[in-house]
Amino acid sequence: MLDADAVVRALHAAFTHDVGRTALLQLAATRIRAAGPPYTGVYLYMVRGDELVLEAFDGRPTEHTNIPVGAGICGRAVAEQRDLNVPDVHQADGYLACSIETKSELVALVRRHDEILGQIDIDSDVPAGFDTTEEAAVRTVADALAALL
Ligand code: SME
Repeated sequence: MLDADAVVRALHAAFTHDVGRTALLQLAATRIRAAGPPYTGVYLYMVRGDELVLEAFDGRPTEHTNIPVGAGICGRAVAEQRDLNVPDVHQADGYLACSIETKSELVALVRRHDEILGQIDIDSDVPAGFDTTEEAAVRTVADALAALL
């Protein structure tokens, strides 16, 4: 299970030690994935103009390093300005596959007031891997990141 408060403490400690933006994003990715299943792969996409750019990840590499806003599950979350919990990726319109093993996906937006800075995108090999507890834990980390970036 993901201990969101521990991840937030680690982010604040790193911030205090003046680590840069990329290191904060990497820390979030690494610490979330370290929780184990359902967190198979964690991808930090940040908004630049009209696309999402992969700035840090932990898990399987992905070919989707740049995703237009509106494309895939990641781009749709930004276009619709909401978090997305997709229990079965193969039923999702426009899904961009990263791995054949991925079964479900969770996107939590990183937002500061009305501005969407980016998102935490999580792939899971577990079907319907994310319940409301996981949603809330990842949201807690996303909100902490928004305050520190
Ligand atoms: N599945 C995502 C693409 C990102 S990779 O999974 C890391 C999507 O459909 O937008």
